[in-house]
Amino acid sequence: MASTRANPTLPLLLALVAVVIPGPGDTQVSIHPPKAFLPRGGSVQVNCSSSCENPGLGLETQWLKDELESGPSWKLFELSDIGEDSSPMCYDNCGTKQYSASAMITVYSFPERVELDLLPVWQQVGKNLTLRCRVDGGAPRTQLSAVLLREGEPLSRQPVDGDPKDPKEITFTLLARRRDHGANFSCLTELDLRPQGLGLFSNVSEVRQLRTFDLATNPKLDTPDLLEVGSQQKFLCSLEGLFPASEAEIYLELGGRRLTQESTNSTDFVSTTALVEVTEVFDRILLLRCVLKLADQILETQRTLRIYNFSAPVLTLSQLEVSEGSQVTVKCEAHGGAQVVHLSGAPPGPPTPQVQFTLNASPEDHKRRFFCSAELEVAGKSLSKNQTLELHVLYGPRLDERDCLGNWTWQEGSQQTLKCQAWGNPSPKLTCSRKADGALLPIGKVKSVKREMNGTYECHAFSSHGNVTRDVNLIVLYYHQNNWPVIIAMLVLVLVVLAVSVAVYIYNHQRKIRIYKLQKAQEEAMKLKAQAPPP
Ligand SMILES: *[C@@H]1O[C@H](CO)[C@@H](O)[C@H](O)[C@H]1NC(C)=O
Ligand SMILES: *[C@@H]1O[C@H](CO)[C@@H](O)[C@H](O)[C@H]1NC(C)=O
Ligand SMILES: *[C@@H]1O[C@H](CO)[C@@H](O)[C@H](O)[C@H]1NC(C)=O
Ligand SMILES: *[C@@H]1O[C@H](CO)[C@@H](O)[C@H](O)[C@H]1NC(C)=O
Ligand SMILES: *[C@@H]1O[C@H](CO)[C@@H](O)[C@H](O)[C@H]1NC(C)=O
Ligand SMILES: *[C@@H]1O[C@H](CO)[C@@H](O)[C@H](O)[C@H]1NC(C)=O
Repeated sequence: MASTRANPTLPLLLALVAVVIPGPGDTQVSIHPPKAFLPRGGSVQVNCSSSCENPGLGLETQWLKDELESGPSWKLFELSDIGEDSSPMCYDNCGTKQYSASAMITVYSFPERVELDLLPVWQQVGKNLTLRCRVDGGAPRTQLSAVLLREGEPLSRQPVDGDPKDPKEITFTLLARRRDHGANFSCLTELDLRPQGLGLFSNVSEVRQLRTFDLATNPKLDTPDLLEVGSQQKFLCSLEGLFPASEAEIYLELGGRRLTQESTNSTDFVSTTALVEVTEVFDRILLLRCVLKLADQILETQRTLRIYNFSAPVLTLSQLEVSEGSQVTVKCEAHGGAQVVHLSGAPPGPPTPQVQFTLNASPEDHKRRFFCSAELEVAGKSLSKNQTLELHVLYGPRLDERDCLGNWTWQEGSQQTLKCQAWGNPSPKLTCSRKADGALLPIGKVKSVKREMNGTYECHAFSSHGNVTRDVNLIVLYYHQNNWPVIIAMLVLVLVVLAVSVAVYIYNHQRKIRIYKLQKAQEEAMKLKAQAPPP
């Protein structure tokens, strides 16, 4: 059986003819099946039949065509390797007229390629990310759709339309988030052949993993601007709120040299510290850089550091310990550099690199502190260093009215405090003893003053630096002999004796009166008896 491939424009032409020239009477051409749905590259059998008495049947198609069987009024063809949708047409040359009928062949195919475009190597959080999925082939397009997936969950579903021969790109834009870091994206196509009773067919692209980062600000550098030669300096550089901190690299560079440092990365924080010994070999001006690398970003913070050399001023005393009245020279000197010094206690004058003065040591100068400071200006900042020294003056002992009263007058039995303090350096020892008998005077609190303490004492203060004495009178006031109880007792006795005497006297007196009255009465009676006439 011969397979023929006809010119594709021919059926169209014949159809046109059929429409233009209407057939005679009831001649009919039919094609079976009128509709076919098959996979691309598949084959189908087509039966062309005609009602013409003497038919000249044929089938017009661009596909490979085999005539399988035939009857008086029909022909059975097989079309194979069908590449796309088409309409094969049966025709019949009946007499001088031509009649035709066509069928609809719909071809389906799975996409040849479903591909998700490469994602950016690093995607910044908060910026738009556009996912692009390219679909090649796939038919029928009316039944084909594509779904963009994040971690297997659909983000967007879109139809894949257009001609199946044209590749189709579908896109979806989303805002990148921190939690998209490490997320897998893919693209899925679905060819829904369920209306044809064939089911739902999907094809999926390769998975692409996204890496997101969040980096908004430059790292923060924490360091002084001025570094002193001989000091140890700590540099700290850190950044908070970046993501993913574990993948960030941070380092410090001083004068183009990387410093040895310790770095820490925590959830959203990175920091690095470096310890540097500032030595003479350093340049006067150095550049400190802190570099942070994350994703495809490099951020840095710079600081210009100034190195300076500054020694404390030298303070000297001609002697650190002197006797009262000696001369002491105090000198304050800057140690290199065009600095000026200040010295406490020095007479006022213009600022100079050296100041000195001499003083006569007095007891008031004992433990006096001399303060010497130097000033240096570096980069508009005034730096200062100082030194202090203490002078020790040997003096005393000293014991005068102010420190120890000469006269004390106290009430016997009262509580008093005997204040007597000897001054001097070294501190003197003090003893007070009564001139008369050498009894010691208790310095300090006295619980109860006794009259025996009365007397004149000699207070003696002495130290390795000399001795001094001072008289102290202690007068104790007291009442002479207390006789009141005896006097009262005597008084009471006298009163009692007096009272008894008075009582006895009164009694005797009364009795005498009664006796007298009795006598008088007897005398009266006698008189009366005598006057009476004798019976
Ligand atoms: C083709 O169609 C005709 C008319 O309908 C029918 O008689 C014939 O049997 C068919 N041939 C096949 C092989 O089915
Ligand atoms: C993404 O896919 C890779 C392999 O393709 C897998 O190792 C990884 O675990 C997946 N990530 C997630 C979050 O599922
Ligand atoms: C698409 O999926 C179908 C079945 O679902 C499968 O037969 C076909 O090979 C797939 N195509 C590609 C390019 O993977
Ligand atoms: C003197 O120097 C010391 C450190 O050496 C410093 O702590 C102090 O504040 C300085 N005093 C003054 C008054 O500048
Ligand atoms: C103590 O008192 C006496 C006499 O009242 C007096 O002469 C003497 O000067 C006084 N002494 C002192 C040190 O005040
Ligand atoms: C007190 O000093 C004098 C000289 O001022 C000295 O002669 C005397 O021995 C000293 N007395 C005592 C107890 O140190």
